[in-house]
Amino acid sequence: MQGSLVKLTDVSFSYGSSAVLKDITFTVNPGEFWALIGPNGSGKSTLIKLLLGLLKPSRGTVELFGKPAGDPDRKERIGYVSQKSASFNSGFPATVLEVVKSGLTVKRGLFRRFTEDDSKAARRALQAVGMEDFTGRNIGELSGGQQQRVFIARALAAEPELLIMDEPTVGIDQQNSASFYSMLEELNREHGIAIILVSHEIDLVTDLASHVACLNHTMHFHGGRRDFAKLGDRDLSKWYGHPVRLIHQKEGGGSDD
Ligand SMILES: Nc1ncnc2c1ncn2[C@@H]1O[C@H](COP(=O)(O)OP(=O)(O)OP(=O)(O)O)[C@@H](O)[C@H]1O
Ligand SMILES: [Mg+2]
Repeated sequence: MQGSLVKLTDVSFSYGSSAVLKDITFTVNPGEFWALIGPNGSGKSTLIKLLLGLLKPSRGTVELFGKPAGDPDRKERIGYVSQKSASFNSGFPATVLEVVKSGLTVKRGLFRRFTEDDSKAARRALQAVGMEDFTGRNIGELSGGQQQRVFIARALAAEPELLIMDEPTVGIDQQNSASFYSMLEELNREHGIAIILVSHEIDLVTDLASHVACLNHTMHFHGGRRDFAKLGDRDLSKWYGHPVRLIHQKEGGGSDD
């Protein structure tokens, strides 16, 4: 039986003298789909950077796949799409296929030439996000939502066990954001990829995910989706520091474990 993918134990973090995260304990197991929610400035992106080993905790420990975060061979098992990935100008000289293949350099080493297998892996990843018809197009010529799909494909090409996304639907319209979310659901259910998704679309993501983590410097809630759905708007508003209203669309559906 495989152990946890991510394990934070009593983690605190400060930028200089400014404390951002306090006593965070949080575990992600294989196959789980976590929605990480919380107001602006609550420390979500900072938490993600700690997970990726890009920042070191001031206190506590961060483990990935049973080893300290930052260990080089951990990286290839994680796909990461950052908060600001889709900001290419139209002159950027790379095709969609090249961008996706560049995601394989983590796994294969920077100086190894791309092979036929790499192209196959890249095409498969593009297919998974419904962008297989765009392989030869220049990345800069795509819409923001299409670019974001390509960046997800780039993260998927290396076949990660865990996909971490920080507000991936910013700039994507409602319809495309809905189909993007159902794509994530499929990746999680059918391909067994664990997901951590940071989003401000609280209703949508807490209905979609198997688990919810609510962060505002401390972890106010973390647990199964159904337990989250039992919470009142009052709890959430208290944690957010301003009124929040939830409309649970799929109450009672899906599974928590
Ligand atoms: N590099 C940095 N140096 C100093 N302070 C920072 C740095 N990055 C973030 N902060 C501060 O840390 C706090 C948490 O920031 P973080 O980016 O983690 O929030 P967030 O929850 O991701 O917010 P958002 O929803 O706006 O993306 C904020 O007060 C922010 O100003
Ligand atoms: Mg952020």
